[in-house]
Amino acid sequence: MSRSAHPAGPRHADVLPEGHYSAPPADLNKLDEKVWSRTVGRDQDGVATVGGITVTRLAEEFGTPAYFLDEADFRARCRAWADAFGKDADVFYAGKAFLSRAVVRWLHEEGLNLDVCSGGELTTALDAGMPAERIAFHGNNKSLAEIEKAVRVGVGRIVLDSFQEIARVAHVAQAQGRRQRVQIRVTVGVEAHTHEFIATAHEDQKFGIALGGGQAAEAVRRALKLDGLELIGIHSHIGSQIFDMAGFEVSARRVVQLLAEVRDEHGVELPEIDLGGGLGIAYTSEDDPREPHEIAKALSDIVTRECGAAGLRTPRISVEPGRAIVGPTAFTLYEVGTVKPLEGLRTYVSVDGGMSDNIRTALYDAEYSVALVSRTSDAESMLSRVVGKHCESGDIVVRDAFLPADLAPGDLIAVPATGAYCRSMASNYNHALRPPVVAVKDGEARVIVRRETEEDLLRLDVG
Ligand code: LLP
Repeated sequence: MSRSAHPAGPRHADVLPEGHYSAPPADLNKLDEKVWSRTVGRDQDGVATVGGITVTRLAEEFGTPAYFLDEADFRARCRAWADAFGKDADVFYAGKAFLSRAVVRWLHEEGLNLDVCSGGELTTALDAGMPAERIAFHGNNKSLAEIEKAVRVGVGRIVLDSFQEIARVAHVAQAQGRRQRVQIRVTVGVEAHTHEFIATAHEDQKFGIALGGGQAAEAVRRALKLDGLELIGIHSHIGSQIFDMAGFEVSARRVVQLLAEVRDEHGVELPEIDLGGGLGIAYTSEDDPREPHEIAKALSDIVTRECGAAGLRTPRISVEPGRAIVGPTAFTLYEVGTVKPLEGLRTYVSVDGGMSDNIRTALYDAEYSVALVSRTSDAESMLSRVVGKHCESGDIVVRDAFLPADLAPGDLIAVPATGAYCRSMASNYNHALRPPVVAVKDGEARVIVRRETEEDLLRLDVG
């Protein structure tokens, strides 16, 4: 691996162009356990390891860019969520964050349920042996074929997202001679403090049925009348990457109010409420996510209190964390290519991936951390921007980062907390080949999603 020096990049002390960063960390070699998965560390030579394997060996064996998923950490997080919510609640892992057959098996083994939002996710879940009754089926525009399949295989619940869908699912269930368990997704009118594109409970957006104006009450009225449906509860998902529990509290309170109205109008106490996913994780050392047991306690306290006040039996609670389970468990490993210092600005560090393996920075202004992992360095820090190899200036992986000034082509750098919404949102832009996902555990590494090949690209191109 090349260690050739290049002209030192601009140092933080020289310039501080606008950006979202604070002072460089005291120790650039430190891998902050807040943002790295649990089995990550450095060996005696300073090379980062995960599950006991060095990143240099992983890069040799699997190539770069690649996502490395810490299986022990993933399983531990599943258990933490399941334990925190206990027997009287259900945890549904949101498969959109990242889904593969191996992940489905781990979820099954660790006792979690699964939320899917497309026919493709449903097929993956069933193929890997997730019992259908432990699957919830979501989506704001489920196709007829998807609904027919979900009903036929017997998913545990379909979350209804519109008036049309209430009628459609009822019709399909009746035609198949079944009664489908359903929840109604409501928008509670909460402005979650997150990026606009991932906030979902304000009323001016495509998901759910508004509580305001009596829309949700009308949806319940219709669903209760239809023979093909068994209405088991109300669902609310307020957004994603949220740290503040206040939004969940308002959401829970409003959903419970609806349950009370339903009881008053129909004499029916709906037995379940689902408060969705959306719990934030640490992408940088400045983020302070909550632990599952704190979240479980906060949600269960508020639901119990509100139900008590309304004279309702406390319903069974369910939640749908995706990012909070898989996000922290993986990092993306890249090889450094071109290193371009721009005097008075920053150093552009190009890697062998980019927006095709992590679109989140470009799409949501997401912040990430990054570290040199194939060695340690005593060089001073340089303000850097980690960019990809795509033909776009917005192809940024880490907007503002401090990396050692002796960084050189051939070094390996890694971006932690890329387990959620990176591989699942990866694209073939510029005919890039989507990277593999490699599970690492106890000194063993195995590919769970293989790297795409040029043959894969050509196979789809049938013109
Ligand atoms: N339940 C429902 C109904 C959802 O729509 C979502 C996420 C979740 C659960 C899981 O949310 P989580 O716990 O993972 O935050 N691509 C965006 C995130 C979109 C989330 C969409 N729905 C991102 O990369 O930040």
